[in-house]
Amino acid sequence: MEIKEIILGEKEIELTVRNLARELNGVYKDDDKVVLVAILKGSVVFASDLMRKLSFSVELDFIAASSYGSSTQTSGVVRITRDLDTAIAGRNVLLVEDIVDTGLTLSYIKKLLDSRNPKTLRICAFLDKPSRRKTDLTIDYTGVKIPDKFVVGYGLDWNEKYRNLPHVAVIG
Ligand code: IMP
Ligand code: MG
Repeated sequence: MEIKEIILGEKEIELTVRNLARELNGVYKDDDKVVLVAILKGSVVFASDLMRKLSFSVELDFIAASSYGSSTQTSGVVRITRDLDTAIAGRNVLLVEDIVDTGLTLSYIKKLLDSRNPKTLRICAFLDKPSRRKTDLTIDYTGVKIPDKFVVGYGLDWNEKYRNLPHVAVIG
């Protein structure tokens, strides 16, 4: 596997994050006290850029899930490997994800968190591959829709590599 093509450069990423933050700043008010839940590990880079542009109060927590499957395909069988520290009942929860592919991982996490009765639960994803969707999942805030190609960088990995690239690139 090697880097084929850069599909989002640093400037476009910055603009995307700024636009998402502006949208979110119009939705949440300061007394909403949002729990931003970043899904490990991929969304860490996006979440850290995004949260610094939010003007309402944010608490930060993490959840990690592993799905069984190959390095580029999700099986849909999901296991929570790191759960929240925060009790989210009655809270406004914003789930932050790096990329939605089949949607199976996020659907599982959303159902799990919904069962804890948050006041609101919304999803913000940096990248979306809508053509790959296998579930009926609403992404409330989407950064960029991309074609069905495997991408790395800006937190996204291939076999734990390339997360540190400052841009998003296609590998193959
Ligand atoms: P889903 O359950 O099929 O939606 O898969 C979601 C997870 O698979 C994401 O959180 C990523 O960790 C990973 N993933 C899906 N597509 C890509 C990609 O193009 N590059 C890197 N990781 C990906
Ligand atoms: Mg991920």
